[in-house]
Amino acid sequence: MSQSIETVLTEDRSFPPSDEFRGAARLADRSTYEQMWRRSIDDPEGFFGEVARELPWLEPFTSVLDWSGAPVARWFDGGKLNVSHVCLDQHVEAGRGGEVALIWEGEPGDERTFTYAELLAEVCRFANVLKARGVSKGDRVAIYMPMIPEAAMAMLACARIGAIHSVVFGGFSAQSLTDRIEDGGCTAVITADGGWRRGSILALKDAVDEAVQDQAQVHTVLCVRRTEQAVAWSEGRDVWLHEALDGVSDECAPEPMDAEDVLFLLYTSGSTGKPKGIVHTTGGYIVGAYLSTRYVFDLRPGDTYWCTADVGWITGHSYIVYGPLANGARMVMYEGAPNAPHEGRFWELCEKHRVSIFYTAPTAIRAFMKWGDAHVEKYDLSSLRLLGTVGEPINPAAWIWYREKVGGSRCPIVDTWWQTETGSIMLTPLPGMSATKPGSAMTPFFGVDAAILDEEGNEVGHGEGGLLAIRRPWPSMLRGIWGDEERYHDTYWSRWDGRYYMAGDGARRDADGNFWIMGRVDDVLNVSGHRLSTMEVESALVSHEGVVEAAVVARPDDLTGEAIVAFVIPTDEVADDGGLALGVLLKAHVAAEIGKLARPAEIRVSPRLPKTRSGKIMRRLLRAIAAGEEIRQDTTTLEDPTILDELRTGVKA
Ligand code: WTA
Repeated sequence: MSQSIETVLTEDRSFPPSDEFRGAARLADRSTYEQMWRRSIDDPEGFFGEVARELPWLEPFTSVLDWSGAPVARWFDGGKLNVSHVCLDQHVEAGRGGEVALIWEGEPGDERTFTYAELLAEVCRFANVLKARGVSKGDRVAIYMPMIPEAAMAMLACARIGAIHSVVFGGFSAQSLTDRIEDGGCTAVITADGGWRRGSILALKDAVDEAVQDQAQVHTVLCVRRTEQAVAWSEGRDVWLHEALDGVSDECAPEPMDAEDVLFLLYTSGSTGKPKGIVHTTGGYIVGAYLSTRYVFDLRPGDTYWCTADVGWITGHSYIVYGPLANGARMVMYEGAPNAPHEGRFWELCEKHRVSIFYTAPTAIRAFMKWGDAHVEKYDLSSLRLLGTVGEPINPAAWIWYREKVGGSRCPIVDTWWQTETGSIMLTPLPGMSATKPGSAMTPFFGVDAAILDEEGNEVGHGEGGLLAIRRPWPSMLRGIWGDEERYHDTYWSRWDGRYYMAGDGARRDADGNFWIMGRVDDVLNVSGHRLSTMEVESALVSHEGVVEAAVVARPDDLTGEAIVAFVIPTDEVADDGGLALGVLLKAHVAAEIGKLARPAEIRVSPRLPKTRSGKIMRRLLRAIAAGEEIRQDTTTLEDPTILDELRTGVKA
């Protein structure tokens, strides 16, 4: 087990919500939580049956949970529904069509607002365009977009006609997009000419052109005009959305979907092999997103909610698009970077739109700290009443800064632990109830039966580290990995003979039973809250002609949580510059192969790597070297101990 599991953080501060917050909260006391949680575990049929019936079904379900095909769960069988109908039509039909659904801000300062009725009409028109292009139920559609309203509309339009969307983060390279289009068998791609990022343009359409070159099954590239730069055009295949929308009806009946029909695929990194297309289905997913948004964010009428994630990640799916809209929320969406055009941009938007609930990532919080308090203090943030974080463990210093500087010491912070695979939040404080502790994800959400186990599957005692596991199915859990059933079993259910879902994170519980996440236990890197596998970065490195072998490890980084350090053996002898020039080339190469977020922070070129006598790369050792730590571990199994000094002093690119 990795060393980090034994580390014990000593943090005993705790912050209960104010009486004022508690007084108005959806859930304000521990005993209500305990009762509800207990019922959700002992009687999931009763508990989740009731929650699901709060949503509009086109046909009622006949059973709540079927676990007979474990580890593939079936929820709400017999029921038919459509997620876009849940997110849009139900609010319009209830007379709330005039309420604002989405306030969008572009990076250059343009702004668009949509009411629920307007958003519904846009989604219907978009859906009709897809239909006219021959996209139908069950087809896979890749979405490669900037953070513009059309990104959310594209997802909802796919959901409306029963097409399966596969959103690929706009910062991924053409090669990454190709891999995902190919694996998912996507037949259409929705993109934009470009998107704004720190004043420059992300050339999305160019990347799509490159990505679909050899993907003959892609018959349509639907392109949104955003930045208006010239783009290459393939007649017949490429379609401008604004042209296709001309004269299209704003009515489109929602396709009745079975609860277990696939809603979307979202690719995420594992420790080995190519990225996994995580499969989420319709009924259970929307129930999970709906319920968690409601309770974790204590969403109430009058709130303005802003989640700063990108739709390319699961957070953008569940907590920008599906969860908030299913609840009829009023939300903010922003196209650009937090420091464009200035470092106070997020706070300026919070003030301008009177944001009351704000959800972001620890890496962003650490960046705000670095940029200085003045950018925050300049704005009136008195509208905020609740803050959240997600993506990686938050260090207590950042937590306290967030609480004091952004939250004015009055807003509870919900540190939410979950994964692409879990679909919705699993461990979290409930803001009206929890006395939150900086760095703890606190308690299991409804339906979540979490445990911390040792390798053999025994529960460890409070205070001891172990592997985080979930004991039974929850509605929004993944249903599989696209096209690879075996990998689904192996990755998540094989460790303890199918009895538990293995999350891949280390964790411990404190004396009060609260959960503390201690990071990944496999070879998954967490850079700025985004999962990358060491294997993928290594393959990208060795695909360069100048590299024979590569080993990638993470070292702690103040800003990004973890930073990538790559050790590479060059094809030719190490050059006189110590490999500096090669390192520079390789950084650019990885960025082009995977995307900028995978670019190593440091590359060390060396003629050898530390290996055991049996030829295995000693990653633990590389980790210590990368972190600049003294080597205290056993090095006697090392084939050639002199290598250590070489690596320590190696030139860094
Ligand atoms: C990490 C993001 C500590 C964890 C929603 C998990 C966290 C991985 C937290 C999933 C948190 C996420 N505290 N660690 N609050 N939230 N993680 O799939 O390692 O992009 O397994 O989903 O991020 O990343 P993913």
